[in-house]
Amino acid sequence: MQNPLDTVRTVADLRARVAAWKAAGEKVAMVPTMGALHEGHLSLVELAHTHADRVVASIFVNPTQFAPGEDFEAYPRGEARDAGLLAGAGCDLLYAPGLAEMYAPGFSTTIIVGGVSEALDGTARPGHFNGVATVVAKLLVQCGPDVAIFGEKDYQQLQIIRRLVADLDLPVTIIGGPTRRAPDGLALSSRNAYLTPAERHIAPLLHEVISEVARAVALGGPVGPAETDARSRLEAAGFAPVDYVEVRGAHDLERLGPGPVTGHARVLAAARLGKTRLIDNVAV
Ligand code: PAJ
Repeated sequence: MQNPLDTVRTVADLRARVAAWKAAGEKVAMVPTMGALHEGHLSLVELAHTHADRVVASIFVNPTQFAPGEDFEAYPRGEARDAGLLAGAGCDLLYAPGLAEMYAPGFSTTIIVGGVSEALDGTARPGHFNGVATVVAKLLVQCGPDVAIFGEKDYQQLQIIRRLVADLDLPVTIIGGPTRRAPDGLALSSRNAYLTPAERHIAPLLHEVISEVARAVALGGPVGPAETDARSRLEAAGFAPVDYVEVRGAHDLERLGPGPVTGHARVLAAARLGKTRLIDNVAV
C-alpha cells in the first residue's frame, strides 16, 4: 500500500524539505510523537497549523526513554494507520527515522536537564527524561522548525523541553497544547489501549480526583490533606501503586508549602491501574 503521507526517513531528506519551505518564506512547525496516534496528537497538528504554514510530524518510538522492563517492545506501532490520520489532519510531512538514523553506532551523548526533571516522573521513571531530552534535542536540531508543539498531557515533559530549549539556545518557540480527553474525562493516551474494560471504567477517576484537588486548593484549602485524600481515593478504587498526587508550582514544578496555594500551581498525578501506568494533570 502506498503511504498516504509524504514521508522521509533521513536527516538529510528532512533538512532538504524544510530548507525548501523556508526558502519560499514559509514557517515550519514540528509535532514530535511516538505514533499510535489519537485525537490528542491530531489536535497538536491542528494547533501547529495555526502557528505555521507547514507541519512536520515525527514518529519515533524512542528506546532510550523506556526503562528496562517498561513497554518498549509492546508499545503499539502502526505507521500506515498513523500516516493516514496525519494526512487527514493536514500534516505536510512525516519524518519516521529508523533506529540507526537516530542512534548511529558509537552514539554516546545524553542530555540531562536538572531541576524540573528530578521529581515526579523523574523519580518514578529513572532515566526517562534523559532519554526524552536527548531525543527531543536531536529532533529539533534535525528539523530546525520555527515552532514545536507538545501536549500539556505530559506536563513535566513540556516544562523540561522549555528548559532545554532555553538553556541550549535552540532557535525554536515551544507551544503547549491542551489535553484532549474522552467524554468521561480520561486523558487520551496511546497506553489506554492496554486497559481492560473493567480498568477503563475506573480510569476516569484519576482526572476526577485531581480536579477535586485543584478546586479545593483554589478555594484556599491546604495542600497536604487534599493530596492525602486524593491518594486514598485512588488506592481505594484499585490504583496501585499511586506514584504521586502532588500540587506543584506550575512552571518550575517546585514543591509548595503545606498551606494555601499562592501563585500558579498544577496538580499532577501518576498511578498504575493493572499493567497500565496513567498520568494526568490539571491547572489550579
Ligand atoms: P507521545 O506520547 O506519542 O506524545 C506525543 C505528543 O502528544 C506529546 O507532546 C504529548 O504530550 C502529546 N499528547 C499525548 N496525549 C495527548 C492528549 N490527550 N492531548 C494532547 N496532547 C497529547 O511524548 C512523547 O510521545 C515522547 O516523549 C516524545 C516527546 C515524542 C519524545 O520521544
